[in-house]
Amino acid sequence: MTVIRGATTISEDTPEEIRKAVKELLEQIESRNDLKRDEIVSLVFSSTSDIHSYYPAKAAREAGFESCSLFSAQEPDIDGSLPLCIRAMLFVGKNTDPKHVYLRGAKMLRKDLAGKINIAIDGPAGSGKSTVAKMLAHDYNILYLDTGAMYRACALKVLEAGVDVEDEAAIVDLMKDVKLDVVFENGTQKTLLDGVDVSEEIRRPPVSMASSSVSKHPSVRMHMTEKQREIAGRMSCVLDGRDIGTFVLPEADFKFYLTASPRVRARRRYDELTAKGYKVDLDELLSEIIRRDEQDSTRALAPLKKADDAVEIDTSEMTAAEVLAAVKKHIQESI
Ligand code: DC
Repeated sequence: MTVIRGATTISEDTPEEIRKAVKELLEQIESRNDLKRDEIVSLVFSSTSDIHSYYPAKAAREAGFESCSLFSAQEPDIDGSLPLCIRAMLFVGKNTDPKHVYLRGAKMLRKDLAGKINIAIDGPAGSGKSTVAKMLAHDYNILYLDTGAMYRACALKVLEAGVDVEDEAAIVDLMKDVKLDVVFENGTQKTLLDGVDVSEEIRRPPVSMASSSVSKHPSVRMHMTEKQREIAGRMSCVLDGRDIGTFVLPEADFKFYLTASPRVRARRRYDELTAKGYKVDLDELLSEIIRRDEQDSTRALAPLKKADDAVEIDTSEMTAAEVLAAVKKHIQESI
């Protein structure tokens, strides 16, 4: 007798999604383990407490798993568990080396199998990386680290102190006396300057350009890079930035590089900022984005650049959900 495990996730709790996911999972288990259907003695499913619309066992029966005994159960609501997840255990009547199958990000729930995972999402301002990084981190139940926020916090301090953004020595001096912390509360990143939460303030438009300027200085970069590597070294996370795949974590498990046309990116920033009540001008945002791209991609140390092994996605014509699906598909296919 052999026991083979598998798990998958669904994007929403509907009978169609459950049927599709169960069929795919079982077929993958069969093919990766070279199983004949009548070798499966029984099949046990459990699904997370957010799945109500259909029994996975019924879906398995409909997918043609007719001769084995079937059972489904629902798991308790465990804080921090991967959402919308279906697990399966197959009892097989022969002795074989089991190849467990984890689809659609479900490997993330097996910390023993997945180990620590770092996902790098780089790209210029407005390419959609923070939206997708946040969604991905949520779905995989891992941390989201917004590295831009660290440069923004430094820029905010520089602006407040009236220090010239071009003056590397003065910035280094200033930052020596400042405590810059990134903390995580309920999965949300808070950026603290001397213990004060500046997460909202650092989003103000003047801080954007200044953050690009301060981030050119090698001593500022090395300081931030060290902090980012330290966090990524401790836990699974999705990091978004400009140089994660090329410089901060060249060994990241998955690397993505998102792009979009400058106009689309300016429009996104415009919508984001006006929704927050800022008065902004679309053309000004467009020229700022172009200047920032130029500055970020021409600096000497760790410029904005696609890593050779990053998957590039042009998000200009895509919704956030579509980008997320493309990212997950790639991760799934390469696990
Ligand atoms: O992603 P963002 O717009 O919040 O980033 C603000 C600036 O910080 C960006 O223009 C360049 C800099 N930055 C960087 O140099 N490297 C990173 N990994 C992240 C941001």
